[in-house]
Amino acid sequence: MTAAVSSTVHIDLGERSYDILIGSGLLDAPASYAAAPKSSAALIVTNTTVAPLYAQRLQAALAGRHGQVHTVVLPDGEAYKDAATLNLIYDALLGHGADRKTVLYALGGGVVGDMTGFAAACYMRGVPFVQVPTTLLAQVDSSVGGKTAINHPLGKNMIGAFYQPQVVVCDLAVLDTLAGRELSAGIAEIIKYGPIYDAGFIGWLEANLDALRARDREALSYAIRRSCEIKAAVVGRDERESGLRAILNFGHTFGHAIEAGLGYGEWLHGEAVGCGMVMGADLSRRLGLISADDQARITRLVERAGLPVRGPALGADRYIELMRLDKKSEAGEIRFVVIEGLGRAGMRPAPDSVVREVLAAHAG
Ligand code: NAD
Ligand code: GLY
Repeated sequence: MTAAVSSTVHIDLGERSYDILIGSGLLDAPASYAAAPKSSAALIVTNTTVAPLYAQRLQAALAGRHGQVHTVVLPDGEAYKDAATLNLIYDALLGHGADRKTVLYALGGGVVGDMTGFAAACYMRGVPFVQVPTTLLAQVDSSVGGKTAINHPLGKNMIGAFYQPQVVVCDLAVLDTLAGRELSAGIAEIIKYGPIYDAGFIGWLEANLDALRARDREALSYAIRRSCEIKAAVVGRDERESGLRAILNFGHTFGHAIEAGLGYGEWLHGEAVGCGMVMGADLSRRLGLISADDQARITRLVERAGLPVRGPALGADRYIELMRLDKKSEAGEIRFVVIEGLGRAGMRPAPDSVVREVLAAHAG
C-alpha cells in the first residue's frame, strides 16, 4: 500500500511539541518515524492480538532507523495494565542492554500506549517513545496528550506520569481489523469533542455517523483530525490538567462508576463513556444549562454509534460512592463535567437529589 499523510495535527508544547500524522498506509512507511531519534536499538511494545497483525511490518519500517529492533509481546487486556506487566517491558529493555537512546514504540490500543509511555517515562529516567495507535479510541484520544499510567488494584490509572511522545502515527488502514464493538467505543470519544468544544462538529457527526460505522476512510480521517485538533487545543493550554483539560472527561465520572461497579472489562471504556455522556447531558439539562432538544441530540448520537444508553442497576448509593473516588472529586465532593451550551463545557458539583434523578432516569 502506498503511504499518504492526509493530515498533520501539531501539538504545541514548546520543547515537548510533536506531530500527529493521519493517513493510510503510514505504518509501513519509514518516513512516518522520521521524528524519532536514530539509535542503535529500539523496542516495539505490543500485545498478543496486535503482534501477529502488525509487529513485523513495523519492524521492517524501522530497520533503517535503528541498528536492532526488538519486540516484547504483552498479554492483551485492561486486566494486564498493571505493575507486573509493566515489569515485562523493563525486563526486555534490561535483557537487551538498552541504553538511554533506545526508542520505545507503542504498537496497540490505549492499554499498550499508556503502559509503554509510562515505561518510557521511567526507564533510565526517560527515553524517547513513539505512539503507533491501532484502535480508534487510541487514535482520537489516548495516544495524544501525554497521559501515561498503569492501574493499581485500588484504582484505575492511579500510577502514572505526563510524558509526551516524539510523534503519533495514525494509520487508518489498521482500523480494518478492529472489532465493531471497539470501533463504537472509539466513536464515543469522538462524539465527546462536539458537546465540550465544537457545536459545528455535532452537526458533522449527525450527517456522518453511519459513514464512520461503515469505516469510510474519508469520514474516519476527518473525525480523527478534528478530534486531535480539539485535544491539541485543550492540552496546549493545560498540559497537566490544572483546570481546562478536565473537560475531556465529559461522561467519564458516570462512566468510571459503571466500569468499576461492574468490574473492569465487562463494559468497554468507550461504552461506559457513551452512557456516561447520556447521563451527563441529562444532568446538564436538569441544571438548566442546555435544552431538552440539545440533550436529545447528544443522546441520539450515542445511540446511533451502537453504544449503550442505559446504565447497569448498581443502585444510586453505589454509583455515588464510586463517583466520589473520581480524580476530579475534591474533599469528597463529586465534580461533574457539564455542558454549558453546545460546544462549551465546565465543571461543577451538583445537588445529590438531581444526581439521583439522573440515575433513576438512566440506570437500572
Ligand atoms: P485496548 O488497548 O484494550 O484495545 C482494545 C482491543 O482491541 C484489545 O483487545 C486490542 O488488543 C485490540 N486491538 C488493538 N488494535 C487492534 C487492531 N488494529 N485490530 C484488531 N484488534 C486490535 O483498548 P482501547 O480502547 O484502545 O484503550 C483503552 C485504554 O485507554 C484504557 O486503559 C483507558 O484507561 C486508556 N485511555 C487513556 C487515555 C489517555 O489520555 N492516556 C485516554 C482514554 C483512554
Ligand atoms: N482522556 C483525557 C485526557 O487526556 O485528559
